[in-house]
Amino acid sequence: MFSFLNRKKRKKTPNPIHLWEEDGQFNAFMMEISGHTLVDKVRCFMLYQYAKSVSCMSGDVAEIGVYKGGTARLLARTLQPSEKKIHLFDTFSGMPATDNVKDYHRKGDFGDTCMEKVSELLKDCSNVLFYQGLFPDTAKPVAEKSFCLVHVYVDIYRSVIDCCEFFYPRL
Ligand SMILES: C[S@@+](CC[C@H](N)C(=O)[O-])C[C@H]1O[C@@H](n2cnc3c(N)ncnc32)[C@H](O)[C@@H]1O
Repeated sequence: MFSFLNRKKRKKTPNPIHLWEEDGQFNAFMMEISGHTLVDKVRCFMLYQYAKSVSCMSGDVAEIGVYKGGTARLLARTLQPSEKKIHLFDTFSGMPATDNVKDYHRKGDFGDTCMEKVSELLKDCSNVLFYQGLFPDTAKPVAEKSFCLVHVYVDIYRSVIDCCEFFYPRL
């Protein structure tokens, strides 16, 4: 009872783990991608920190699973000062064929997007390159590259395996 009362009286202090609340640049980027991502703020902050931490390393960046372009823009904006290339892979027309047993998603999910809209969202990011179609069929142009960060957000079993097999030896 004593500790309960004591706790109630204590002044509320900011949570030191909520670093994203204090980061003006991150919050500005979040405003830019509002309505264009499924990824919550905490995960976006992790991605933002990963991007900043690789900015001085050699190698390109890739995202597989772009959808409406939200996290792609977050990566592109964060890495703009580094002039690092960001390779963006998606069908831009929804999920490819899925496995009825292994996958939650079905073919055509996330179909409410298109290349034109995503290009428009990223039109001021000269550091991005688009690859439309089924990954890994679209991977050939980057086969000789190495990568310092790869964001895999493809949500289905076969695509995750294909991404790991392709990118792991190139990381
Ligand atoms: C959950 S969404 C990506 C979310 C996005 N990063 C965001 O910021 O909201 C998953 C995307 O993966 C794409 N995808 C899944 N497997 C793919 C594959 N093998 N090749 C190309 N795109 C794929 C789908 O088309 C879909 O747009």
